[in-house]
Amino acid sequence: MELKKFVDTLPIPSIIRPKGMYKGRPFYDVCMIETLHKFHRDLPKTKVWGYNGLVPGPSFNVEKNQPIYVRWANNLPEKHFLPVDKTIHGASHNPEVRTVVHLHGSPSEPASDGHPEAWFTRGFRQTGPHFMKEIYHYTNEERATALWYHDHALGVTRLNVYAGLAGLYFIRDEQERSLSLPKGKYEVPLIIQDKTFNPDGSLFYPAQPDNPSPNLPYPSIVPSFLGDTITVNGKVWPFLKVEPRKYRFRLLNASNTRTYQFQLSNLRPFALIGTDGGLLSRPIKVKSLDVSPAERIDIVIDFSGLEGQNVILQDGFESENPTGEIMEFQVTKFLSCPDQSRLPSLLSHIDRIPLDKVKKIRRLTLNDSQDEFGRLMLLFDDKEWMDPATETPLLNSVEIWELVNLTPGIHPIHIHLVNFRVLDRYNQNGNLVAPFPADFGLKDTVLVGPGETVRIIMKFHPFSGDYVWHCHRLEHEDHDMMRPLKIIPSNRNK
Ligand code: C2O
Ligand code: CU
Repeated sequence: MELKKFVDTLPIPSIIRPKGMYKGRPFYDVCMIETLHKFHRDLPKTKVWGYNGLVPGPSFNVEKNQPIYVRWANNLPEKHFLPVDKTIHGASHNPEVRTVVHLHGSPSEPASDGHPEAWFTRGFRQTGPHFMKEIYHYTNEERATALWYHDHALGVTRLNVYAGLAGLYFIRDEQERSLSLPKGKYEVPLIIQDKTFNPDGSLFYPAQPDNPSPNLPYPSIVPSFLGDTITVNGKVWPFLKVEPRKYRFRLLNASNTRTYQFQLSNLRPFALIGTDGGLLSRPIKVKSLDVSPAERIDIVIDFSGLEGQNVILQDGFESENPTGEIMEFQVTKFLSCPDQSRLPSLLSHIDRIPLDKVKKIRRLTLNDSQDEFGRLMLLFDDKEWMDPATETPLLNSVEIWELVNLTPGIHPIHIHLVNFRVLDRYNQNGNLVAPFPADFGLKDTVLVGPGETVRIIMKFHPFSGDYVWHCHRLEHEDHDMMRPLKIIPSNRNK
């Protein structure tokens, strides 16, 4: 479908308000529903699944150390409108429309983390070892940052997120406010997802073969999905009128597979000020940034001096293709009032974990393999999701994980519960390579390039229990690049 670019204004997701109080804390009520969404001026309305019927979902805006409760309710129909893989996990009770919500990047207690097996449907809720609480509790103890919430149900995450189940979650704090960064309408969230639309406006997602047979060379279980159309905040190739001044953009790559190399069409440098886990210690001036699925970047772009010009946010990896353009900034001639925001040279303090605290070093390979039907799977250490947990750190212990990518693809590796720091990167010949700018910040998801080894360090706290770690290419996560992460309580270790 050829859709005209830059004809729809960029929408800004609304901020969700609490519905009332619960146990003395703000209580939010969110319901997943099927609805129709207008992605583009010239496209008929599209069937989607949205939190409170919105795509993307409403943004949370909460204050550090102020806990909240959220009820996530599933009011979706009985059948998925996207093609579900018949070999979906969990054969004993196997509805297609299962959901569970994970607040990505937050240290949530296990019962509120949205474990993939804690899924529920409109009429069914799991009971069992892991979890089932109806109301989730978020303590919001982390520093100011942009988290995001999205579906995490076992075997169908790729479909549920693609259908629309994703939104942003901002944590604010005093330290961040003291910096006078651009705010209000000058702080703009950008949630980027690639999609493919059928001419009738419906979402296209490739189907799995219905009768997988060991004799058929099925190349894969859709190992990737790359849409031919880029959406930002739920609009196809939108535009935003900006004033000639500084703007702060809170950018989330919520795509299933696609890694972007964000840059401006005039190649003007901009400042990276924060990553998954909040502000950097100092801004880093960059001309482009590689951002893989689930990573967030916090950037400041200065449009001053560009009065009357159009600047395109583009993807350097796709410069020859229509998907190489993401959205357009149309710089107005005048300022509505003088720009009083600042880009301070010191942004925050990030604690370093001393290397002598390390209790364990794990070498974990990212490799490909085949499932029982001969289809490609992507695995960690050649183990599948159902194999017993092997990553079982002690509560409060510090570990280094060496993520060794033996495949020719990119894998954004995400670990629940923790923020980690990237120590270093090596290429396939074992030579140290230059760090990514985002490696200087706190991370919960790290891009591991083809053949690369990335070493990360983290402390497993503040909760013990059942979590997961996985590749955030959702097609990989669903088949089977996800493993249990079991934090073992320990009193030795305080
Ligand atoms: Cu963003 Cu385990 O997920
Ligand atoms: Cu992967």
